[in-house]
Amino acid sequence: MTAPDVVPQGTCAPRARFETDARILSLDGEWAVRWSDSPATAPDDLADPDLDIAAWDRIPVPSSWPLHGHGAPLYANKRFPFPVEPPHVPDDNPVADHAVRFDWTPGGRTLLRLDGVDAAGTVLVNGILVGTTRGSRLVHEFDITDAVRPGSNLLVIRVAQWAPTSYLEDQDMWWLPGVFRSVAVLDRPAGGIRDVRVEADWTEGHGTLRVEVDAEDGEARSVRIRVPELGLDLAPGETATAVAEPWSAESPRLYDLEIASAVETARLRIGFRTVRIDGVRLMVNDRPLLLRGVNRHEHDPDLGRVVPREVVEHELRLMKQHNINAIRTSHYPPHPDVPALADELGFWVILECDFETHGFEYVDWHGNPTDDPAYETALRDRMARTVERDRNHPSIIMWSLGNESYAGCNIAAMADEARRRDASRPLHYEGDRSSAHVDVYSRMYAHPEEVAVIGRGEEEPLGDAALDAHRRGMPFILCEYAHAMGNGPGGLREYQELFESSDRAAGGFIWEWLEHGIRRHTADGREFSAYGGDFGEHVHDGNFVADGLVDADRRPRPGLADVAKVFAPVRLTIGESAVTVENRHDVVDLSHLRGVWSLDSARGTFDLPGIGPGESATVPLPPGAQGPGVLTVAAVLADDTNWASAGHEVAWAQRGAPVAPAASSASAVPERGGRGIHLGPARIDAVTGRLSLGGLDLAGPELVLWRAPTDNDLGAAHAAPSSGHDLDPPEAADWDAAELPRLMTRVLGVDVEPDAVVVRTRVAPAVFGWGALVALRYESDGDAIGLHVRVDPDGTWPCTWARVGLRIHLPFTPSVRWTGLGPDQAYPDTGLGQRLGAWEATLEQLRTDYVRPQESGSRAQVTELEMTDVAGSGLRITGDGFAFTANPWTAAELAAAAHPTDLPTPRDGCWLTIDFAQHGVGTGACGPGVLPPYRLEPRSVEGRVALRLLP
Ligand code: GAL
Repeated sequence: MTAPDVVPQGTCAPRARFETDARILSLDGEWAVRWSDSPATAPDDLADPDLDIAAWDRIPVPSSWPLHGHGAPLYANKRFPFPVEPPHVPDDNPVADHAVRFDWTPGGRTLLRLDGVDAAGTVLVNGILVGTTRGSRLVHEFDITDAVRPGSNLLVIRVAQWAPTSYLEDQDMWWLPGVFRSVAVLDRPAGGIRDVRVEADWTEGHGTLRVEVDAEDGEARSVRIRVPELGLDLAPGETATAVAEPWSAESPRLYDLEIASAVETARLRIGFRTVRIDGVRLMVNDRPLLLRGVNRHEHDPDLGRVVPREVVEHELRLMKQHNINAIRTSHYPPHPDVPALADELGFWVILECDFETHGFEYVDWHGNPTDDPAYETALRDRMARTVERDRNHPSIIMWSLGNESYAGCNIAAMADEARRRDASRPLHYEGDRSSAHVDVYSRMYAHPEEVAVIGRGEEEPLGDAALDAHRRGMPFILCEYAHAMGNGPGGLREYQELFESSDRAAGGFIWEWLEHGIRRHTADGREFSAYGGDFGEHVHDGNFVADGLVDADRRPRPGLADVAKVFAPVRLTIGESAVTVENRHDVVDLSHLRGVWSLDSARGTFDLPGIGPGESATVPLPPGAQGPGVLTVAAVLADDTNWASAGHEVAWAQRGAPVAPAASSASAVPERGGRGIHLGPARIDAVTGRLSLGGLDLAGPELVLWRAPTDNDLGAAHAAPSSGHDLDPPEAADWDAAELPRLMTRVLGVDVEPDAVVVRTRVAPAVFGWGALVALRYESDGDAIGLHVRVDPDGTWPCTWARVGLRIHLPFTPSVRWTGLGPDQAYPDTGLGQRLGAWEATLEQLRTDYVRPQESGSRAQVTELEMTDVAGSGLRITGDGFAFTANPWTAAELAAAAHPTDLPTPRDGCWLTIDFAQHGVGTGACGPGVLPPYRLEPRSVEGRVALRLLP
């Protein structure tokens, strides 16, 4: 077989990233670029030191070239978009020669640093080949001392989209070639600081520091290491102990460290902390951790793999503001700024190597590099580069060997490489279920029932007793769970309760933080978020690339509010006259927080108890906070932090319910007139049962049992045929097979009683015998119309129902005000972050524009709803806790659209559905479907509302 060209050539030994006062020249900016269809046909002129690049195109560096009009983005989850015959790649392999001229005055050695080149680069300086890059998200440094000359220099990087390393980089994301991270030229003065290895441990009030320094030319003799704040002044390799504050994600205390040689001073920010595995518990500084994490990819809707620094800072703050305390850098080392920001803001980080071979699943893992010794050097090299660049960051508490690359000899090799370079951190890898070479047992998308079993240490034994004992003795994490695709994720609370109730379960990482949509516009200029298939790809996985808690512009999806609530490190429980406060932080007490309360328009503050992590205490409610109505208590930041201002709400709870308006009494008497039956303000058609109110024809009410399927309803098989984690059969397919979306109505009777009109119908699909019997009983006090609905299944349905709702049509586009949960959507297993109150929204604001239209926007526990036109006329609906959705489109129209911009232009008017029961949302797009308590099996459902015309 051909030797795989998967190891970089000519690179320097990997080393740590640190700030230095030595000369650095950034080459970021406008470069020249020249395109070829294939390495074989690309011009053979790169050895020319005077290559004329004046006529070449221009491109910014860093950049992902398909986002600059060359080629197209291509999204596939696992499947390789080329024949699987490693190490070969197609001849049709776009090549971009990137070139730039730079002025340089040589000093000491000169290095060229490339932070990220996707997929493979050949690097020449003044026509001299200096090496190759292999590992898109890994830093490569080249010693260009012999190639560089005083004055003007020419750097050319020939970048190929496909390379043998593509087989090692099959992460679930867009394939986006380019020089997508920074390029710099570095002066390395003789006697300067080549590398720094910081060991900063913490035990019982003391920090222990030892720093190893490699000098540029041998021994680091005149080098001093200082931590001025602690009065430390050490030689390399010397160990010192000082009274120091520990670093943690909750209290990210950093100290400035200075390393000075005669010719160079380096600066690092260090944190003292010790990661340890104690039996089945994951500990930092002797405190067990609960990881409330997200998986973070790097993506920008306009720039692709290039994410502006301000966007990164914003998104990390947004995570902190939503109580996220951990990040898994799925599935590659992030931009070098990220670990430093994580140190400062405070996150527990699992930093992952750039490695995934998932597509080998389609060839039965035959030829998988994970188990092929020919790839050992390359995989060791990847692991080495991963560890060495970032090893000095306190935020990183674990290394991860990669993702979904199955098992094999090279997992052991990578683990060995990581441990040889850094024995202080545990190792993570999910893809080898035996966990033979790692320190934590990790899984993805396991059902809560299985998580409970593993949490108790009662999982199915492995065949090999020694391996089983090894794995059973480890902490457990879910490196991915709660797939946040489209409407969802449902069931977050269940996972959190399991994490909190087990010593072994150290928490997990929601999949995922961010949607990877790409901004595009329709021919008539309307913006939409493009996904797989929108660029003409044949092999693609559709909108499976858009599965985040925030959209590609980092705007929160409704699920993020649920995350903030579920991850809150303080639990508040309101009793009769007191609040129980539970400190669920890992490390800190509650002195950084204060209590606030509000009851209707009254508000005040209260003291939180200064309790430590894991403790709880009860504090009396101030007298003003006692009484009827909705009481909200919250724990808010007492002072500004680097991620939120004083007053930012960290945790909250509510008690009470808005008072349901009194139902109308049945005093009006029905009167027949022609085909109509008049009852107070209502007219009911004696033949069709159709209701009008005043002059308003409501085109119903009509029973609906279906919704526009969510991504979770459609399940993994639809979302991405290759996603694999299809634990539950897709709900939407069952609904469709049972004809749930297409029901027909037969009126059984319109009965006039002394003080009521009762409309009885049978609603059922074509083809089958099953259906539902509906009784709508109308009463009136002469002013409002009371509606009592009862729905009974008729026959045996083979599927769940999506909802039990009554749909009417309003002939105007309403403003909406409601009392109930808000401001955003809530379904039976979501909406934990929504609170009781009085809310208003436009019709447009009610829905969530997911990248693929689907059911969204249900407001729950509603007691009062007003929908009015511009003149203030309309409808008021009161009840004792119904849900509603309102939309200009029918569910069928939503279901048929691939993007929001494909929906018909909204007509004036809207469909209002009042729901008396709903099916949960779950996470069936990749993971468990709707959990039993939230399933809507066909059953009898009753509800009551009152309708009144406004004004
Ligand atoms: C996992 C994988 C992720 C992503 C996710 C589904 O299997 O590790 O990269 O594909 O499923 O969105």
